[in-house]
Amino acid sequence: MKSLITMESVRAWRKKITGKVVFVPTMGALHHGHEALIRDARRLAGLKGSVVVSIFLNPIQFGPREDVASYPKPLKNDITVCRRAGADAVFLPTVADMYGPDRSVFVDEESLSSVLCGRSRPGHFRGVCTVVAKLFNIVQPTHAIFGEKDWQQLAIIRRMVRDLNFPVEIVTAPTVRESDGLAASSRNAYLTAEERALAPLIHAAMQSAVEKLKDPVAIVRAVARAVEKIPGARLDYAETVDSVTLLPLKNRKSAGRLAVAVFLGKTRLIDNIGLPPHK
Ligand code: PAF
Repeated sequence: MKSLITMESVRAWRKKITGKVVFVPTMGALHHGHEALIRDARRLAGLKGSVVVSIFLNPIQFGPREDVASYPKPLKNDITVCRRAGADAVFLPTVADMYGPDRSVFVDEESLSSVLCGRSRPGHFRGVCTVVAKLFNIVQPTHAIFGEKDWQQLAIIRRMVRDLNFPVEIVTAPTVRESDGLAASSRNAYLTAEERALAPLIHAAMQSAVEKLKDPVAIVRAVARAVEKIPGARLDYAETVDSVTLLPLKNRKSAGRLAVAVFLGKTRLIDNIGLPPHK
């Protein structure tokens, strides 16, 4: 597996390869959810294609009150995970190479970014779109894999690819869960033992509401009530939205998503599950 640091080294590597180039963008702190994404990428690329993973803790997608400095950076383990899952190359750009001091061009998605996490994390998706657009331009993948865990991010990246004509096929991978239902996330490491024990109740509440109820508003109310009962939990939002437009889901005629963000102590956890259309 090749480690690529500079833009020039990526370009030189990219020039030499043909066939599928499947890209997995990450911020590091790789867990088994990421590992599954890289394995999916390997399957998609096949023997003739290539898999490249980027590890870049993107400062511009963190808000002023979100501490980028305290984000875990277990680089050695990250490299091991990439190698084990079958990556051909890892791209590890520096912040200085990615962002010049006089940078002045950003990618701003103006519709889907204004709802759900966009309300509580202003500027976050601008940072995500900007870095993903830059990474697409540098790596020039044929395919890029994003996990369904970050459903809003996925919807926004799809919109960006469509509206800016990136020649990249976006591939999705289902959320990887721990055995108790908690969605795998780098943020789970921030939970105390007590919080970690309570965290699966969020997904359980979502599952139970979706199994029992049909009406999108009733589902949201049931989740909000259940989250209120979890000690130390504070609901940021629970919403039922259209899978593509992220607009509030009025009925169950089209495919929807139940999306939830909950503060458990200081840690903000997000999760989402599908609401298949009801006949
Ligand atoms: O999902 C993430 O880890 C990040 O938002 C991404 C897509 C790697 C951009 O920094």
